[in-house]
Amino acid sequence: MLVRVMIEQSTSPSAPPIRWHIVTGKGGVGKTTVASALALALADAGKKVLLAEIEGRQALARVLDTAPLGYGEEKILIGKTGGAVHGIAVDAETALIDYLEIFYSMGKAARGLRRLGAIDFATTIAPGVRDVLLIGKITEALRRRDNAGEYIYDAVVLDAPPTGRVARVLGAAHEVAQLVKIGPLKRHGELVTSMLADPSTALHLVTLLEDMPVRETIESVPELRSLGIAFGSVIGNRTSPVPLPAGRITQVDIARALDAAGLPTSRTMLASLAEQTRGHRQRQDNETEHRASLETLGLPYVELPQLFGGINRAAVRELGTRLGDFA
Ligand SMILES: Nc1ncnc2c1ncn2[C@@H]1O[C@H](COP(=O)(O)OP(=O)(O)OP(=O)(O)O)[C@@H](O)[C@H]1O
Ligand SMILES: [Mg+2]
Repeated sequence: MLVRVMIEQSTSPSAPPIRWHIVTGKGGVGKTTVASALALALADAGKKVLLAEIEGRQALARVLDTAPLGYGEEKILIGKTGGAVHGIAVDAETALIDYLEIFYSMGKAARGLRRLGAIDFATTIAPGVRDVLLIGKITEALRRRDNAGEYIYDAVVLDAPPTGRVARVLGAAHEVAQLVKIGPLKRHGELVTSMLADPSTALHLVTLLEDMPVRETIESVPELRSLGIAFGSVIGNRTSPVPLPAGRITQVDIARALDAAGLPTSRTMLASLAEQTRGHRQRQDNETEHRASLETLGLPYVELPQLFGGINRAAVRELGTRLGDFA
């Protein structure tokens, strides 16, 4: 459904296809899971996708049961119709060496700097420059073309930092471009800024349907909007999978249902089930309120259910399949 929304967004006559999906949200809401599921769904639709992380946590490898990711853009998953997911964990040191090689043709000399500790020094003292290098690597992958002039990647999905930090990380390119008056670093900053503002870039906001994450999502929008990046979808993650029927459910209703299913009942069991039903109802009522608050943002809204049994590659695939049922 999510991808269908994204496809619809990207196939409307006025909008170009989304090539850069940036997935953010409050800490712990499911950014890494949703980014992975989205990458898989796109790969299953035949696309060649780069799934990227920039915080050195190996979060993607953990979710997808792969070997730790490096800078090498290795193929980590095969899509159903010829698509594939490649993975990258961008680190600032290697991104700086890459940058020095590309812009200054420094080659071996740049790698030598790492041994001297100069790279470490440069990437530590200037956090803004560090962020530009990390995001700059993603934009480089987005721009890269093969000999026939075709893009190497149809799409890049970035498992981005949480809402509390993402504006600073994405806004760094603009700041660096303002600070630095001339030279390749300024051009690099400007290029990254223009790619972020491109209509083929979309910033997706993942949230749980709970008080704090919903509030943080809504409050983050003005600052993120000021970055000039177009919003994609709001994704309500881990929602109640089984909606309860309308109306009050009594112990008698539960006893009847158990009886009809041929299951034994006891007073304690009925009391406990009735209590759980009340909790479930409360949760669903809260979810309904939160959905309504999120709708005020006026952005496309989609949901992923809570899956039970833990999130591993198979579960992400299942979420991806749910996302990819448009194919
Ligand atoms: N739809 C889902 N159903 C069940 N569990 C989920 C679902 N989505 C995410 N989870 C679980 O929620 C937890 C947080 O997910 P995830 O790591 O993707 O969040 P995150 O936003 O990337 O966190 P962080 O801010 O630490 O990077 C994980 O344990 C994950 O397995
Ligand atoms: Mg994460």
